[in-house]
Amino acid sequence: MSKNESVDRTRGPQITLTTSISKDDEVLVLGLVAAPSDDNSIDAAAPTLLGADVLDDGSATAISAALSALGATGSHGEVTRLAAPEPLGVRVVVAIGVGDEKSLDDPEKLRQAAGVAIRSLEGFDVVATTLGSTDIGAAVEGLFLGAYRFEEFRSSRSASTKQLPGTVHVVVESVDKEAKAELAHAIAVADSVAIARDFVNTPPSHLYPEEFAERARELGAKAGLKVEILDFDSLQKDGYGGIVGVGKGSSRLPRLVRLTHAGKKSAKKVALVGKGITFDTGGISIKPAANMDQMTSDMGGAAAVIAATIAAARLDLPVSVTATVPMAENMPSGTAQRPGDVLTQYGGTTVEVLNTDAEGRLVLADAIVRACEDEPDYLIDTATLTGAQMVALGTRTPGVMGTADFRDRVSALSAEIGENAWPMPLPAELRADLKSRVADLANVTPHRWGGMLAAGLFLKEFVPDGVQWAHIDIAGPAFNTSGPWGYTPKGGTGVPVRTITKVLEDIAANG
Ligand code: BES
Ligand code: ZN
Ligand code: ZN
Repeated sequence: MSKNESVDRTRGPQITLTTSISKDDEVLVLGLVAAPSDDNSIDAAAPTLLGADVLDDGSATAISAALSALGATGSHGEVTRLAAPEPLGVRVVVAIGVGDEKSLDDPEKLRQAAGVAIRSLEGFDVVATTLGSTDIGAAVEGLFLGAYRFEEFRSSRSASTKQLPGTVHVVVESVDKEAKAELAHAIAVADSVAIARDFVNTPPSHLYPEEFAERARELGAKAGLKVEILDFDSLQKDGYGGIVGVGKGSSRLPRLVRLTHAGKKSAKKVALVGKGITFDTGGISIKPAANMDQMTSDMGGAAAVIAATIAAARLDLPVSVTATVPMAENMPSGTAQRPGDVLTQYGGTTVEVLNTDAEGRLVLADAIVRACEDEPDYLIDTATLTGAQMVALGTRTPGVMGTADFRDRVSALSAEIGENAWPMPLPAELRADLKSRVADLANVTPHRWGGMLAAGLFLKEFVPDGVQWAHIDIAGPAFNTSGPWGYTPKGGTGVPVRTITKVLEDIAANG
């Protein structure tokens, strides 16, 4: 057998590179490429196997014949399972449709096909696949993320006996330096996404501000980040009126966490800010009972910026990154803030809190002002901020607002890695609707039009001139409430960890 290369990871399957099928492999996953559609021909052309060179000729012919008899077309995401021909040594062959030739140039198509393939392999332990033959990175990310499961809160009573594969051998032409680097990069990124998913999937009973801060400290320290945590007393003393106002209604008091990955002195400085509401009841402006449980995901932005900062350290990116992460639980109680209260944000801006359920912008405003004291070149904030994001863009497409050039750069990079954040405007006329009768600003407009944009305009008030800024609203995309698809399971998705990581890499490379 050829050389295997193993890479550190904290969870997920063990994924290694190899040049041939090994004796322990139970399943071989092959890509199946659809024939170009030709409207003039009656007989559809046969799909072709991807990476078939690892097969002996007899097996390749037998597999193709069987797939054709079963009517497999290679359409994207199609799964066809066969008994393996004897000489192969594995028990089962799975052909996963990757779409036509053109989709081979689209890493996201491959990532998703790999995710579908691994999710279909419940009950198998050791798997070989040729899916990495055109793009190791995309295949590995799809396999790793598709194999993600969150089982921490299942007792033996309901634990699934059918696990997804624990070992994946990615069969490539040669296990060279470049291939190993691609594998290591993909695992560093995908494992960081898994960190964010774990945070989001941990229920609010177990993940509250103090605990969230401690877990961020542990993971951050392990990755070599500098960690600073402000507790409730410090937040009060230092004037973080937004975080205090939102957090004071809960018996579990708020925190502000700062994590730093230090680049070289000359490196560009990036500030990250993420909304960390560990549970959002709405506060005194309480939410309806239906689906309130989903507000366990209201710290998805915080999870993503923590994970992206860890990714920057793991990838040793030559860029300075500081995540400033406000954590609070938004509860109604005798100590909660009231609709009509006025608070003073960090830095002095006063805000009339007309709706206590528009709490995200209050904690973010404090964090943005603090983050910008460091004079960053770039600021990226992300938050499960508005239901209006889903009304505008659906559940899978984040909205990105901010300074025009950087907004468009973030959106383009997000499209490259398949998270597809879409640029949205900050219309000046909506700003007038954030005027308050008594304070500098109101936290909501008196109407519901352009709710995502109004929230963006609120945040804009706290971003200093000259900072390139992107605000990513992930209300829908952070948490998958329907079925699994591609490499995205139900629950926490880890969006937008890969977008932010890609932007950090781009800034490291191009300034
Ligand atoms: N956390 C919610 C936004 C949200 C809604 C995220 C659904 C994910 C799914 C946020 O704090 C909120 O309640 N926003 C209000 C703002 C409104 C009061 C202006 C909303 O969107 O309704
Ligand atoms: Zn809310
Ligand atoms: Zn919220």
